[in-house]
Amino acid sequence: MRNFNETTITDAVLERIDNTPDPRLKQVCSSLVRHLHDFVRDVRLTDAEWAFAIDFLTRTGQKCDGNRQEFILLSDTLGISMLVDAINHGGGGSTETTVLGPFYVQGPPEYPLGADIRGGMKGEPLYASGRVTDSVGKPLANAIVDVWHSDDDGYYDVQRIEDVGGLSGRARFRTDAEGRYSFWSIKPAAYPIPYDGPVGEMLVAQKRHPWRPAHVHFMIEAPGYEKLATHVFVNGDQYLDSDAVFGVKDSLIANFIHHDGGKAPDGKAMTEPYYTVEYDFKLMPDAR
Ligand code: BEZ
Ligand code: FE
Repeated sequence: MRNFNETTITDAVLERIDNTPDPRLKQVCSSLVRHLHDFVRDVRLTDAEWAFAIDFLTRTGQKCDGNRQEFILLSDTLGISMLVDAINHGGGGSTETTVLGPFYVQGPPEYPLGADIRGGMKGEPLYASGRVTDSVGKPLANAIVDVWHSDDDGYYDVQRIEDVGGLSGRARFRTDAEGRYSFWSIKPAAYPIPYDGPVGEMLVAQKRHPWRPAHVHFMIEAPGYEKLATHVFVNGDQYLDSDAVFGVKDSLIANFIHHDGGKAPDGKAMTEPYYTVEYDFKLMPDAR
């Protein structure tokens, strides 16, 4: 076939894809082609705009390395990450999920319950605690609880590893017989997602800010249950309604309570002000 025009080109490409042996791959690729072609027709894309798009995506790829994932930032800021999350998770009485983000480090250092994980991070002390249960409240002992968060300037340890002298504000715990976890660290601050690349340019062009409300990341695993990746957000943060990556859910907002000093929940005598936060997580039975 030859001489394709604005309308016949779509069917020609779909026909070429038709022999794809994997049915799911065929479905995804065909739908992608249909939507992309409709999009190009819809906006009447110009030569200059298509060249710009190719350059933008090229630079997005070039910005990626072992520490920086610009495509994840693009997916997050276009709401794709949270759309995929909404399609694949939720319901069944378990804790709601949200974006993983680019700052998780595989195999974080394991600490005993109650340990202080702040490392070289500065900030106001925070005592965090709670329980991990199934969706009807049965405690899950020995669940793996991974935690990571920013410092009070809004940076993760991996963004200033020299300054903080190694992994800080991140750890792995195992819940006790009652499914409890607890640790000391510092209260995290709101922070801008990295905006010195193509995604930052896009945000500026769309007159959007890059900020995320303050939060602590949790990733929780227990045999027989779906892995949970979520955050606990700081109630009252000014960016809760305008998170740059659309990740906030009401059920994930918790009160970080200020204390002037005195006896902390674990019995520690505090001579300086500190915060406490308590949050319980519910895991979903693994469907597989
Ligand atoms: C984060 O929460 O760490 C994060 C999520 C999405 C983009 C950038 C950072
Ligand atoms: Fe984060």
